[in-house]
Amino acid sequence: MKHDRVHFGADYNPEQWSPEVWREDIRLMREAGVTIVTFGVFSWGLVEPEPGVYDFGWLDEVMDLLGDAGIEVSLATGTASPPAWLSRLHPETLPVTRDGVRLSPGSRQHYCPSSPVYREAAVNLAVQLAKRYGGHPALAIWHVGNEYGCHIQECYCEVSAADFRTWLRERYGDLDALNAAWSTTFWSQRVADWADVLPPRATPTLRNPAQDLDYRRFSSDALLACYRAEREVLQQLTPDVPITTNIMGMWEPVADYASWAADFDVVALDIYPEPKDPGAHIDAAFFHDQMRSLGGGRPYLMMETATSAISYRPPNRPKRDGLNRLWSHQAVARGADAVMYFQWRASAGGAEKFHSAIVSHGGADNRIFREVAGLGAELAALSGIAGSRVRADVAIVHDYANWWALELDARPGELKVPERVRAHYAPLWRENVTVDVVTPEADLSAYKLVVVPNLYLCTDAAADNLRGYVEGGGHLLMSFFSGIVDECDRIRLGGYPGAFRELLGLQVEEFWPLSEGESVGLTSGGSADLWADHVVPEGAEVLAAYTGGPLAGSPAITRHAFGLGTATYLGTRPDETAMRELVRDALRLAEVEPVLQGVPDGVEAVRRGTHLFLLNYGDRPVSVAGVELAPHDVVVLAGS
Ligand code: GLA
Ligand code: GLA
Repeated sequence: MKHDRVHFGADYNPEQWSPEVWREDIRLMREAGVTIVTFGVFSWGLVEPEPGVYDFGWLDEVMDLLGDAGIEVSLATGTASPPAWLSRLHPETLPVTRDGVRLSPGSRQHYCPSSPVYREAAVNLAVQLAKRYGGHPALAIWHVGNEYGCHIQECYCEVSAADFRTWLRERYGDLDALNAAWSTTFWSQRVADWADVLPPRATPTLRNPAQDLDYRRFSSDALLACYRAEREVLQQLTPDVPITTNIMGMWEPVADYASWAADFDVVALDIYPEPKDPGAHIDAAFFHDQMRSLGGGRPYLMMETATSAISYRPPNRPKRDGLNRLWSHQAVARGADAVMYFQWRASAGGAEKFHSAIVSHGGADNRIFREVAGLGAELAALSGIAGSRVRADVAIVHDYANWWALELDARPGELKVPERVRAHYAPLWRENVTVDVVTPEADLSAYKLVVVPNLYLCTDAAADNLRGYVEGGGHLLMSFFSGIVDECDRIRLGGYPGAFRELLGLQVEEFWPLSEGESVGLTSGGSADLWADHVVPEGAEVLAAYTGGPLAGSPAITRHAFGLGTATYLGTRPDETAMRELVRDALRLAEVEPVLQGVPDGVEAVRRGTHLFLLNYGDRPVSVAGVELAPHDVVVLAGS
């Protein structure tokens, strides 16, 4: 891939169109400033119409057309949607749900991630493509599979069960260790034979939480193994071509992306912010920060987003004038070196025909195409930004095992991870402070402030890491229900929060989740709801107490000087204003400066390399640092 520009392009599915249309496509791509397309994503059925029989004719032609036009190709291995014959000849490759239903072909991603038959067939196809196109001048990057786990995150078939046992043997060695990890003395769940170890299928009541948790880990690894199997052969056959797969920026813990990151030569993000959601840009900022952080700060690709309406969230509201431009610039501001859309030309048939594209059903003489072409020209002029970095003084801790664990059944209160992350991230965004998204075991030494939303599950290594960070002079802001269990969902005994009691200088004697609609006052101002910890300080200073409710008079928010740093603890969920005040206070304490002072509400300021991006999400014109911004406008200042 050329790294001398911000790439611009789309998913290209020429197999849905005639060769005359391909020529028109190339002409329009040049007009729109397209530099790259990702191509062949759902082509398995056409490329390999029968097992081992290949038809590359149309692919050859399109590769050449793109190459001649100077458009780079992110070539998909096409393995996300198996051909009809695979399901017919090998029905055991079809995934099975928790309830024991074997799914049918007829949509996409209908494969069991553990299936050796699927994996072998997928690898065979990848090998054929690498042999044929490995030396093609248009080939820039491999796009393996597509959105692993988008529809099928877990399969509960017998093949998966056997694969799970193998995975567990590697993790635990023997059954004694497994029984201990899964707390199987509870409810007579002890297993004495590996044959009795099963996936967490449908059960009469609450399932074993450690088994559930391990199944999520195993399933993430099974998907990763599919990706790695293809990656391995591509690395052998085309060692100079980078390899990636597109992962999803959305509020679903599909797979433990942090454990996948080392296998991406470049991180690729698919993101579909909802035009109807007034806070969509804040969530999007979080996912962009996460992608940049997954790559260790290296630029990533925004491989898919929508030019306008998204087809699976009715009513499908289009993006108003300027919104696509604004959101696309946000990606570049936060570290993306590519803006790409699903898809180039809106499909005439099939399940997603009402999804917006660059070329609409009515052609290219319309608002969407004109806006996209305008953006293409703008990004071409921004080529100097490619490769440059975004710096962050603050990190937010985000962990998939914790996410899975927090959403298991029968917790003391219902915590939704998306809401919890947003509650901590949004006030930082509003203060125009740039944030990295890190795992609890990451090196934190570069950060002035580390924010930890509800880290219920943590490993000993994570607990030591956070402790060491504060001891060394770091400032930590941590929310309730953290440090409660180990990686097997076993309580850390001896007083909550077992992992952080000393660091926080307190004990939580009991959890008092609040009922829906119930809120309590805080002596620091404002109110709180959802949850109230009964905090007993053991050295921590009390910043605020509850003024009402079951714990009136007892501490709600504390701060503990520990080593050279401080650890601030929120035993409850403060309202938005109170939370913003707390975050401001933590930023002051840690001496974190915003990207720019005096930025009005609804405006985002981000610095990437020597460029300053000012993005106005509001409906009103604003003036920032002497620059006038129309509603939904973005201004990029170079050399600032
Ligand atoms: C029932 C069961 C117990 C326990 C409790 C609490 O009474 O008999 O084993 O599960 O509910 O849930
Ligand atoms: C995902 C897929 C695309 C398409 C889009 C739009 O991102 O990767 O193939 O289905 O969603 O729905």
